[in-house]
Amino acid sequence: MANDVWNAVEDYFSDRLILSDPALDAALASSAAAGLPDIQVAPNQGKLLQLLALIRGASRILEIGTLGGYSTIWMARALPEDGRLISLEVDPTHAHVARANIKRAGLDDRVEVRVGPALDSLPKIANEGAAPFDLVFIDADKQHNPDYFAWALKLTRPGSIIIVDNVVRGGRIVDETGGNPDVQGVRRLMEMIGDEPRVSATVLQTVGSKGYDGLAIMLVTGAANGDRH
Ligand code: SAH
Ligand code: DHB
Ligand code: MG
Repeated sequence: MANDVWNAVEDYFSDRLILSDPALDAALASSAAAGLPDIQVAPNQGKLLQLLALIRGASRILEIGTLGGYSTIWMARALPEDGRLISLEVDPTHAHVARANIKRAGLDDRVEVRVGPALDSLPKIANEGAAPFDLVFIDADKQHNPDYFAWALKLTRPGSIIIVDNVVRGGRIVDETGGNPDVQGVRRLMEMIGDEPRVSATVLQTVGSKGYDGLAIMLVTGAANGDRH
């Protein structure tokens, strides 16, 4: 449902703000050539992820849903040299393409792509001492958003940022009657967030090359007994 004006405005800002470069362009081109779906974040959204990581001073980042590593590259560029990003991907082909893209971007020293269902990888990460993460980006299968959010809370600390992609889905989020499991996953997630005293959250509605969608952005406050912001 992308609209011509949204696209023109996105291109205008992407050009002025220089939201592409050879490594990002190559990541998109090789993902397309490998037949991956064209569902990575838009350039301005990738830059938002990077800015949030920089503002937080993130040195540990967790991503759930790698695809071709486009959002991974944006976020990993915010890491210090000794920083680390772990990205979880169920599809071995996606992971293979992502690893090549990440290597080409010069980030393979700090990024690890783990193949398998995220719900299998997350308990292992918890047991390894890789946490706490300073930033978690949730962008995989939407029906598991409630589980991913619960894990994100376990794997972060007060001051961490949690971001969830695709919470608007062209407005389908308000279609309560539909049984679409992705929409139900987002709706259950939003109910959890609303009931969760340990996070302070907002949602940004977005338009552009990815159509009409939105990002949930949360700060882990750790205020577990009612101190809402
Ligand atoms: N974050 C990427 C886009 C991710 S698209 C970007 O913006 O560049 C969603 C990805 O989640 C797909 O690659 C899909 O294969 C993956 N995925 C779907 N179900 C998953 C699961 N159970 N565990 C891990 N990854 C999953
Ligand atoms: C779609 C878009 C996404 O950003 C995503 O993570 C998954 C699916 C989509 O448009 O189908
Ligand atoms: Mg997404």
